[in-house]
Amino acid sequence: MSDAKLDKDPWYYYFGFENAIFVLFDKVKHKKRQTNLSNHFRGQYWNDMQPMVTTEITSLISKFELSAMNPESSALNVSKAYRKLGNELLRNFLLGNDYNGPNSSSRDFSKEADTSYQPLFRAAAWTRHFHWMFYFQFITPNWLFELLMPMGVYKREIEQMIPNIIKDYDDLGKSAHNKAFFYQMIDHDPEYREKAAKPAIEEFMEMMWGGRESIGHALTSCTYQILTRPECQERLHQELKNAPFDLRTAPYAKLKTLPYLWAVCKEGIRMQFGCRFRIPRICREPVQYKDYTLPAGTAISMSPSFFHDDEEIFLDPHTFKPERWLDSENVETLEKFWNPFGNGSRSCGGRPMAYEAVFRGMANIFERYRLEVDGDRMKDLYDEGLLEVFPQANSVGLRVKVGYWD
Ligand code: HEM
Repeated sequence: MSDAKLDKDPWYYYFGFENAIFVLFDKVKHKKRQTNLSNHFRGQYWNDMQPMVTTEITSLISKFELSAMNPESSALNVSKAYRKLGNELLRNFLLGNDYNGPNSSSRDFSKEADTSYQPLFRAAAWTRHFHWMFYFQFITPNWLFELLMPMGVYKREIEQMIPNIIKDYDDLGKSAHNKAFFYQMIDHDPEYREKAAKPAIEEFMEMMWGGRESIGHALTSCTYQILTRPECQERLHQELKNAPFDLRTAPYAKLKTLPYLWAVCKEGIRMQFGCRFRIPRICREPVQYKDYTLPAGTAISMSPSFFHDDEEIFLDPHTFKPERWLDSENVETLEKFWNPFGNGSRSCGGRPMAYEAVFRGMANIFERYRLEVDGDRMKDLYDEGLLEVFPQANSVGLRVKVGYWD
């Protein structure tokens, strides 16, 4: 079925947003927005961003180093460390690292986001059925809303921050920040400034949340999975130790030439549950499926789980097996069914950023450190939903003991 006939299902994607690219249902508007933003979503753009990525990866590694130097200290919560990495990459990507206005680099966006993301999506399961529930926030006192939904604090702050950032940009001149995504965005598309900058606020929040959480999630999954098989960790370390280039500064384009690292990241991302929602689309024409005719307007869903968990494609799908990606006879088929970023015109724009974060993070960690899950908790972590978008409320994340290799 041609992608041109498919639209996103507005009912499913109701998050109380209507202006961010993720929820633009109008095809023409979406195409225009995508074209405006496309430079920043190309792999090429990330060549220029390498110094920034190196700084953020170095900052991530310093947390591991501190933990390794103090073996008696409490375990390192890598779920949080990875989300913080995602947060900083997104902040730099959106605003640039030289932004000096209010709420700039001193602001840790990850603080409230840690507690906010999951309630938001849990709430979406209700608000999509009962849209009026979304307006609950406008009639509830701030203190009560923020108690129920800590995201309220974060949202309110961004709502105040974005108009100030736009004003500073206009007042102070454009030269300093003109590479950062946010400024390109508001320059290219006057619609972002309309309705008291609501579209710009929504785009900022969507990118910040989506990018941060999915990077954190992918890295947590890759780390968790490799810890289920210590021999894989050893093998990865050996490959990284002998890499023919400096891992500290190597971009994804170089790192993907390391076969075992490549296999580990592919397999870790395959097994994460973050991208496993329904991704429903509506076809504007009737669809013939075998003997069934689905009327135009029927929502049709496809989830990556249909492939990623299929025994016939990924033999023993719930076991972490990087080696399956090294079997040259099969790899083409696996590639065809590996689909975490979606397909077609609505597929993920953040893929190049995600690759930089995951490959560079994994390479720099496992070259230097040997990790072990804190306590005997592998199964508990899984049961608590560590790999789900919505872990149980009591899930504290993946905590590891960090040691040096002998
Ligand atoms: C491993 C990490 C990631 C995975 C698995 C992932 C997965 C996905 C998937 C499956 C979609 C399609 C969703 C749908 O149609 O409902 C999507 C869309 C999107 N993603 Fe990602 N994503 C990741 C990282 C990122 C990052 C880092 C960003 C940074 C900004 C990002 C930005 C977006 C945007 C803007 C869209 C909407 C595209 C459109 O509708 O035109 N993603 N992502």
